[in-house]
Parts: sequence; structure tokens; C-alpha cells
Amino acid sequence: MSFALEVRDLRHSFPSAGEVLRGVSFALEPGCVLAVLGPSGSGKSTLLHLLGGLETPKTGEILWANKSLHGAKQDALSARRAKEVGFIFQHHYLLEDLTVQENVTLPSMICQNPNPTRATMLLERVGLQDRIGAYPRTLSGGERQRCALARALVTKPSLLLADEPTGSLDRANAERVFALLVELAHLEQAAVVVVTHDESLASKADRIIRLEDGEVQQIEDTKVQG
Ligand SMILES: Nc1ncnc2c1ncn2[C@@H]1O[C@H](COP(=O)(O)OP(=O)(O)OP(=O)(O)O)[C@@H](O)[C@H]1O
Ligand SMILES: [Mg+2]
Repeated sequence: MSFALEVRDLRHSFPSAGEVLRGVSFALEPGCVLAVLGPSGSGKSTLLHLLGGLETPKTGEILWANKSLHGAKQDALSARRAKEVGFIFQHHYLLEDLTVQENVTLPSMICQNPNPTRATMLLERVGLQDRIGAYPRTLSGGERQRCALARALVTKPSLLLADEPTGSLDRANAERVFALLVELAHLEQAAVVVVTHDESLASKADRIIRLEDGEVQQIEDTKVQG
């Protein structure tokens, strides 16, 4: 079986917080959207950071496209991450000296495959076509979030990790952005892990994991007919 992402018995702790993840395992096929639900402090952002190789788990293993991150050299991991993984952080970091269009195009330039056409297409899809020349400081919170989403998608990542990408959006925009994630995942066969507090949006994903106190309480397949 070919998986875009596989996680085996992941455990993590911080000295000040103790055990934050207590044995998380799951696997995602290409094109599968997984929603992660759970109360504040349950370990969702920590899980996403580990999945992206930004932090090393205390024990357990993570595989991107069936290839383990375990023991990978930092340079090799960074190169793979830039090419294969798109990130939307909970606190969306845009570069303030670059315009919206430049922010979105940047990851494709870092991968030496500049793709301003895709950047423009994505900015249209998230409804920012009129703001492409704007600087981030002039954007609203929701506009920044949509810009961060377009930026995460510009390299056509095979794995997208999104931490509450609809947190600052109104209902209509949240639904639109979530639908775009699901559509692109299915179309481009990207696996998506999306953290959300919104049950109704989560139900649009293919699968749902509920985290509680660092443990997976439940994995649901939303497409299974009851
Ligand atoms: N870098 C860190 N150092 C120490 N403790 C941390 C660190 N990052 C997270 N924690 C702790 O780990 C636990 C899980 O945090 P995490 O950010 O993963 O939660 P979350 O589920 O994303 O919450 P929220 O819904 O509020 O974003 C919390 O108790 C938090 O205080
Ligand atoms: Mg979080």
C-alpha cells in the first residue's frame, strides 16, 4: 500500500508540559483529507509540527511517501520539505516586505521552480485577486490567512499541513477555503492534515481523528455509509 503519510506510535513530551502525544498512529493515502479535532492543548499543533519534520518526536516514526524521516540529515530533510510539504501555521507568518503575490510565489522560487501563474490562480481561488500588490500589514486577519493558504499550495505539495486555516474567517469564507482544500487534495492527489475546531467543516474531510490529551480517541471515515 502506498501512503502519502504514515505515523507509527508517535510520542512526544516537553519538559514543562510532560507527555503531549501518547502513541499516535495513522496512515493517509494520496488525495485523502484528514481533519484533526480536539480541545485546546490536546496536542494538535505539536502533532502537525512533528508531521512536518519541524520537531523530532521522542519515539515513533513518520514516513512521507513511504520514506522515513528518522535519521535523515537536516539538509536532506529541509530539501524534501520544501518540495513535498505545504504548511499553514496557526499564526500565519507572511513576509512583511513582500507583496501578497510575492509571498505566495516565494516557496516555488525557493524550489527553483517559480510559478507565478499558479500563485495568481490560487489567489483568485481564495478571493484575493484584488490584493495581489498589497503588503501584508494592510490585510485583515482573514485575508492574511487566505494568503498563507495560497502560499502553502503554490508548490503543489504532496502533503499539506494546515493548523486552523479557517480560524479567522467568516462562515462563507471558511466554507469556501475548506472546499478549496478538499477539491485540490482530490484533484492533485495531495494528502491533507487539517486542524480545526469546526465539526461541520471537519465533516467535509474524508477522515476525522479526535485527539484528547495526546491520544487518538477515535478515527472516523466520513464517507462510510451508515
Ligand atoms: N514548545 C513547547 N514547549 C513547551 N510546551 C509546549 C510547547 N508547545 C506546546 N506545548 C504544550 O503542549 C501541549 C499541547 O500544545 P499544542 O499547541 O499542541 O495544543 P493544541 O491542541 O494545538 O491547542 P490549541 O487548540 O489551543 O491550538 C500544551 O500543554 C502546550 O502548553
Ligand atoms: Mg494549536
